[in-house]
Amino acid sequence: MASQGLFITFEGMDGSGKTTQMHRLAARLRGLGRTVLETAEPGGTPIGTKIRRILLDSANQELCASAELLLYFASRAQNVDEWIAPALQRGEVVLADRFTDSSLVYQGYGRGLGAENVLALDRIACRGLKPNVTILVDIGAETSLARAHARNAAEPHCETRMDEQSVEFHQRVYEAYHALAEREPERVKVVDGRASFDEIERAVWAVVGAYVR
Ligand code: TYD
Repeated sequence: MASQGLFITFEGMDGSGKTTQMHRLAARLRGLGRTVLETAEPGGTPIGTKIRRILLDSANQELCASAELLLYFASRAQNVDEWIAPALQRGEVVLADRFTDSSLVYQGYGRGLGAENVLALDRIACRGLKPNVTILVDIGAETSLARAHARNAAEPHCETRMDEQSVEFHQRVYEAYHALAEREPERVKVVDGRASFDEIERAVWAVVGAYVR
């Protein structure tokens, strides 16, 4: 898929603070006069938002692993077609809070569905679209679960199905993120998620600044 814009994704464990960093980066880029589309997965588009409700609803305990994988990609296919690809074709910057790497680590490794199955769906949903750069905001599995539980206790809501997975599941996700960063060091840049918000922001800019100047 040809595009002229810049596609940046944020990845990391739940509670890593990547959403805050994505908003800060968007504000900075807008300050430099760039047009920025911010999106998140699962969700983004109105159809994606409906799919998100199914995926994260803690009442949906019987959702099977392959249906889960397909729903994440259904949300992504809609996001690519309706929002991301058109914005990139207009030459804009697109920031996505999670993308295919999340499916790779959570479903491919966490659930054990296999990287090949995930990449096969990526070819259908994304048609060759890959992020120019991916920021991996790095925190460990235990910190992640502690932050997610604290957040859920402070603001009770029903979007907790993934947070309720076992420590072992989150540990596999953590290891898969690190393996990905080692396999694709040109694209996937690791920043320390235990640092302060301002320090993380500086680390993100140290990576992204080179793409926008
Ligand atoms: P969300 O509330 O958006 O969490 P966060 O702020 O941490 O991104 O929930 C998204 C959840 O869905 C999160 O636990 C990761 C999971 N997920 C997958 O398992 N596969 C995917 O492809 C995506 C996009 C997310």
